[in-house]
Amino acid sequence: MVSARFSAILLGAGALVSAAPAPTPTQAATLEDRAASCTFSGSTGAAAAAASKASCATIVLSNVAVPSGTTLDLTKLNDGTTVIFEGTTTFGYKEWAGPLISVSGTKLTVKGASGSVIDGNGAKWWDGKGSNGGKTKPKFFFAHSMKQSTISNLNVKNTPVQGFSINSATDLTLDHITIDNTAGDVPNGGHNTDAFDVGSSTGITISNANIKNQDDCLAINSGKNIHFIGGTCSNGHGLSIGSVGGRSDNVVDGVVIENSSIFNSDNGVRIKTVYDATGTVNNVTYRDITLSGITKYGIVIEQDYQNGSPTGTPTTHVPITRLTLDGVRGSVTSSGTDVYILCGQGSCSGWTWKGVSLTGGKKSTKCSNIPSGASC
Ligand SMILES: *[C@@H]1O[C@H](CO)[C@@H](O)[C@H](O)[C@H]1NC(C)=O
Ligand SMILES: *[C@@H]1O[C@H](CO)[C@@H](O)[C@H](O)[C@H]1NC(C)=O
Repeated sequence: MVSARFSAILLGAGALVSAAPAPTPTQAATLEDRAASCTFSGSTGAAAAAASKASCATIVLSNVAVPSGTTLDLTKLNDGTTVIFEGTTTFGYKEWAGPLISVSGTKLTVKGASGSVIDGNGAKWWDGKGSNGGKTKPKFFFAHSMKQSTISNLNVKNTPVQGFSINSATDLTLDHITIDNTAGDVPNGGHNTDAFDVGSSTGITISNANIKNQDDCLAINSGKNIHFIGGTCSNGHGLSIGSVGGRSDNVVDGVVIENSSIFNSDNGVRIKTVYDATGTVNNVTYRDITLSGITKYGIVIEQDYQNGSPTGTPTTHVPITRLTLDGVRGSVTSSGTDVYILCGQGSCSGWTWKGVSLTGGKKSTKCSNIPSGASC
């Protein structure tokens, strides 16, 4: 539904445009030509927003019910557009790959209004299989090709599978994003519900995230200058780099993950590179990370991944260099392992470890080629 306010403003803008000299087809409408604020709601809101997105400086999505099998398409927004999620955003059910929401453009501000919820309705899809089978599940949010933009204060519940896909993005900040997939912590529930997957992006800051899910809180497959700060992650797989290798972009360079806590998760700090692949993991710092209730590995760094599983045999062509762990502290459960490092010969170097203190888990007997500075 397009509100009366929007129609009135758009008519005004239309009159303004027709009085002005016609813009050349390649020229985007200027801010002045566009309606100040457009509000869309209900079951026709997503289509109306997509149709009118170029005419609105601010797009308010108020209680939008996105029809099944369609994307809330906010791609190619005009420079400087603001998008505000208001009330509850919902999505119809269909088996499909998604995404449920897609946003692209430059100098965008995307935010959630106070009290808003974006409800992915994941329980309709969850079958414990995630993206490895069962129902085809829609990915949640594509933040692809977003530049000099901010996404903030989104309150997300129950993603069907992966959450935010950050790809080909530059200078993008995601602040105060909450994802609560706790309802998926049941048998045959949520799986592969990664919160943030980062690839081929430069200058990404994810601050103050609060994530309850069933897979990585953060997974960086490639990218440069990536900062994760002030995050709280629980029930998932930890703060991960990788698997790196075997894609078109296999370079991770310049990552700082700091001031974050990981509770009741499979892993804390994790770096995985792909068996027999090529690539780089360089200049990665984990600083001031607090762990508790970690059930598999407090710290796990391995160069042996293949098809999503460890092979036990590391290879050397995705070297892990200049890795700093500075203040990684906390507890692992008695069935877990404090630290596991499986490096190939000479392919882990220049590491600095200080203030690394994990207790409660087993000591690994399978570590190999531990670089000086680190210990298992
Ligand atoms: C550390 O993170 C917490 C949230 O987990 C936040 O409240 C605090 O301000 C952060 N401190 C710094 C120095 O960033
Ligand atoms: C390492 O990465 C950090 C974070 O991106 C960056 O600020 C720093 O300049 C990098 N250091 C070098 C030597 O490239």
